[in-house]
Amino acid sequence: MESMIGKNAIIYGATGGLGHSLCQEFINRGVNVFLIARSGTKLRELAAEFKLKPFQIFNTKTITTDQDYLKTLNWLKTRKKVFSYAVHAAGQGLMKNAFTLSLNDWTEIIDINLTSSFAFFKLIWEVREKNDMELVYFSSASLSKAWPKNGLYGASKAGLEAFAQSLHQDIKSQGGRVWLYRLGSVDTPFFDNVPNHVPREKMLSPREIAKIVVTNVSMPKNTYFPVIPIVSD
Ligand SMILES: NC(=O)c1ccc[n+]([C@@H]2O[C@H](COP(=O)([O-])OP(=O)(O)OC[C@H]3O[C@@H](n4cnc5c(N)ncnc54)[C@H](OP(=O)(O)O)[C@@H]3O)[C@@H](O)[C@H]2O)c1
Repeated sequence: MESMIGKNAIIYGATGGLGHSLCQEFINRGVNVFLIARSGTKLRELAAEFKLKPFQIFNTKTITTDQDYLKTLNWLKTRKKVFSYAVHAAGQGLMKNAFTLSLNDWTEIIDINLTSSFAFFKLIWEVREKNDMELVYFSSASLSKAWPKNGLYGASKAGLEAFAQSLHQDIKSQGGRVWLYRLGSVDTPFFDNVPNHVPREKMLSPREIAKIVVTNVSMPKNTYFPVIPIVSD
């Protein structure tokens, strides 16, 4: 395992349960973290908790409009840093029967779960450490079979899986590597608005997932797992 000390990581969706644990784990390994999220209040709380400098956080409602994409890119470029690790930890579930979903529901979930995954790649590619770039995405174990009310969330994550695996093929010759975790239920605020989920005590711990994610990114470059399923036993 190579040393991670002094390298830079960017986390989108840093204010979520997985985002928070990833911040902690990267910091534990001596990595400088830079955080992007839609809530300025939560970002400032994170910065205070982890003793980050104001220039390490960026608040933007989205990264998928031309204007917000360019503002985010400008912020990244102004850091004058190169990034070795990039984690897309933003996402949202919406479990509804297809006949109760609106077009707006569809657009919003696809936007944050799928379109922003592409936008995030575009952003980070501009400021990557050349020949050494690890990009992490989170998909869902719910794809393993067809569930009622999972059409939208499942479609967004299935699209992400197709994108992430193809992306790896596109960028590997330039030292890029894509990690795609297919997670079972993780004990985060993700489930605050999801009825009928498994009991919290049976869920995976975000801290354990973060340890696995941050350990894996320092694996030798000739190692590649197209999909990594993690479920609770
Ligand atoms: N938890 C699980 O069981 C599980 C399982 C499989 C996959 N995943 C995936 O893992 C990723 C992280 O999930 P998590 O468990 O950490 O969830 P979480 O605690 O709910 O955090 C989600 C993060 O995404 C942000 N976010 C949500 N909707 C957004 C939007 N429309 N625009 C911008 N940011 C938005 C949230 O911002 P705010 O803090 O402002 O709300 C938060 O930072 C997601 O992609 C999720 O689908 C989670």
